[in-house]
Amino acid sequence: MKKQQICVIGAGVMGLSSALHIQDVCPESDVTIIADKLSPNTTSDVSGGFWMPHLVGSTPPEKIRSWSQATWDHMTALAHSKEASELGACLVSGYLLSPVKLDLPLYWDQVLGFRDVNQEEMAKFPGVKFGFFFTTVMIEVRCYLPWLMKRFKEKGGKVQQRRISSLNELSGQYDIVVNCPGVEARQLVGDKSVESVRGQIIRVKAPWLKTFLMVTNKNPDFLDAYVFPGARKVVLGGIEQVGDWDLHHRDVDREYLWKTCTTLLPCLQNSEIVKDWTGLRPVRTSVRLEVEYIPLDDRSMTVVHCYGHGGSGVTLHWGCAKEVADLVKRELNQRRRNLSKL
Ligand SMILES: Cc1cc2nc3c(=O)[nH]c(=O)nc-3n(C[C@H](O)[C@H](O)[C@H](O)COP(=O)(O)OP(=O)(O)OC[C@H]3O[C@@H](n4cnc5c(N)ncnc54)[C@H](O)[C@@H]3O)c2cc1C
Ligand SMILES: *[C@@H]1O[C@H](CO)[C@@H](O)[C@H](O)[C@H]1NC(C)=O
Repeated sequence: MKKQQICVIGAGVMGLSSALHIQDVCPESDVTIIADKLSPNTTSDVSGGFWMPHLVGSTPPEKIRSWSQATWDHMTALAHSKEASELGACLVSGYLLSPVKLDLPLYWDQVLGFRDVNQEEMAKFPGVKFGFFFTTVMIEVRCYLPWLMKRFKEKGGKVQQRRISSLNELSGQYDIVVNCPGVEARQLVGDKSVESVRGQIIRVKAPWLKTFLMVTNKNPDFLDAYVFPGARKVVLGGIEQVGDWDLHHRDVDREYLWKTCTTLLPCLQNSEIVKDWTGLRPVRTSVRLEVEYIPLDDRSMTVVHCYGHGGSGVTLHWGCAKEVADLVKRELNQRRRNLSKL
């Protein structure tokens, strides 16, 4: 029997992890990734790689919990594996602080050792009145994406680096198309509920810093500043500009980041700046993970969409990729049955 052909659009954390899961679940198929940008040039490469559900719109909480739990299990397993050093996968502990009272976050019982901060801890940070301390897991995405890509190719996966302007271009060539274009879903499939939330970060060398810090002022869904220490570098961030599609670096944002983060943590003043990055978070009314049958001239194209992960693409990726692969398998079986009836 002819091998079934599957195409995955996108080589960010969603495209790559989906492609790998599909190879596992549908070993009788050929998987091709088509992507305009590859690591280190995707949005996923800009990510802090931090496990924490954030900016996910009104995605049902039970979905967030199940996708993020599957990803938590995967990331903590990597952090304990011999691959940890290559991937910069590690557990990190720290603070989420605010001048106003925060609701208990959805993930409080998924992370480790979640507790309220005490007065003594609070006194170290100016203007802070409330907060939590917990342990989570992180990964260096710029190391993780090449690792996923290598495994994908080892299992026979193909990659085409090119841009497509419409899904119709793939008509007739693939049994199933998996659509993981991140924020560009707005252009590619005209989904107006996808909005960019622009981020800019500074990566610094500050190996003495071991504790993460996030400070939120108004809406806990928006962070005013964060400092995430990774296995090798520390990320300073907090820029979250809704509706801004500008990928250029801005000095004014860098000054804001530097001033806010060094005020919170004066120990950062002597850190060495390594690089500035800008990325657009693919925020949507809710994560889109579903099958669509797009009508074409004489048949229909089966598309599995997986995009709109906002500030949580890394946090949700493994759970979402599993679900994508299950949907692909279901649709392939359906096609087989239909074809055998002809
Ligand atoms: C500053 C910042 C910090 C973040 N920190 C975190 C964090 O700590 N933890 C967390 O969980 N999340 C974080 N995020 C969010 C996370 O980065 C995103 O949710 C995630 O990267 C989305 O992954 P993706 O694979 O869907 O999209 P992307 O990484 O954007 O990949 C999209 C892929 O699709 C391709 N593509 C798109 N359109 C086309 C087309 N027409 N033709 C061909 N190819 C196409 C692109 O070239 C690319 O390969 C952060 C984001 C930013 C900006
Ligand atoms: C990433 O972008 C840079 C600058 O545009 C380019 O030189 C490089 O080839 C790109 N890398 C890949 C893997 O596409």
